[in-house]
Amino acid sequence: MIVDKYFPKDMFAGKTVFITGGGSGINLGVAKNFAALGANIGICGRKQERLDGAAEELREIGAKVVAQAADVREFDALEASMAKTEEELGPIHTLVSGAAGNFVAPAESLSPNGFKTVIEIDLIGSFNASRAAFKQLKETKGNLIFISAGQSYVPYFAQCHAGAAKAGVDNLMRNLALEWGRFGIRSNSIVPGPIADTEGMRRLAPMSGRDTENQSDILIPLGRYGTVDEIGHMAVFLASPLAAYMSGCMTIVDGGQNLMGTGLMMAKMMETQAPPRPA
Ligand code: COA
Ligand code: NAP
Repeated sequence: MIVDKYFPKDMFAGKTVFITGGGSGINLGVAKNFAALGANIGICGRKQERLDGAAEELREIGAKVVAQAADVREFDALEASMAKTEEELGPIHTLVSGAAGNFVAPAESLSPNGFKTVIEIDLIGSFNASRAAFKQLKETKGNLIFISAGQSYVPYFAQCHAGAAKAGVDNLMRNLALEWGRFGIRSNSIVPGPIADTEGMRRLAPMSGRDTENQSDILIPLGRYGTVDEIGHMAVFLASPLAAYMSGCMTIVDGGQNLMGTGLMMAKMMETQAPPRPA
């Protein structure tokens, strides 16, 4: 990690950061970057064992950690996990809503429950977390960070469920910036591009029918996948006093991938996923 070479090691000392889905991948990377700058961390997810492993890694960096399982679809469980975090670490200063679910499924074969499940985890889960944290954030004049995705603003083949969910997340982000600014609460989102060694890319990359990571030179202007730390860097910036006048922003961290549209990657996805046109 390089974040403590560029930001003060005590930037978040005494501050509590709560991260939904913080037990793995990008969200754990975000948690580690906050921990490296002195924050104490609350994490939730569905699997306690995964959270316990992540908590160990965060304690090694120096954070105090509360890791209590909660499904973001269950408001009461989420509220209980945040209440325990407040009791042990103090009120939440930054809420990162990163819990999400995704899979590849063309719309014509996606079941209504499959669509609903992704909306419930990504979108309703993000509202639940924001609502459950509101009282604590009001007290700290804290901030919200939502982890969105490129599907929010560009249609991807076989991703209508994730696209609808993340577009909703970005709209929720802007509405909360509008409504909660008066309480001193800022609200922003991060839109990661393809991030190396994550469950998200393990699920999505194979559907393109090619080894997208090795084709990055033509798929991504900066020529490579991003890292979980690079999403962490944007998160700590957004939560810091340096971003004190930023609210309602979608911040894209994708090596310029969006500039190509979904281009070549989508053409290959359609080759493997799209049914033949009816005669
Ligand atoms: N293709 C099509 N439909 C799928 C699917 C797939 N690969 N995986 C699940 N579904 C459907 C199921 O068939 C079910 O619908 P049905 O009742 O009509 O059959 C519905 O989605 C719910 O599935 P279930 O397994 O009960 O959901 P869950 O709540 O246990 O798990 C998921 C949620 C499906 C999103 C699961 O993939 C998950 O836990 N993901 C978390 C990790 C992740 O996705 N990481 C990537 C980062 S976004
Ligand atoms: P990941 O490791 O699978 O992260 C998802 C996390 O959410 C897991 O820790 C999972 O833990 C948790 N989770 C899932 N359903 C939950 C629920 N119902 N309640 C509570 N927690 C739940 O995948 P990732 O690829 O790092 O993705 C992290 C975030 O980045 C997601 O918001 C994703 O949409 C976004 N993103 C990823 C990429 C990428 O390249 N990977 C690109 C753009 C955006 P449990 O299974 O234990 O619940």
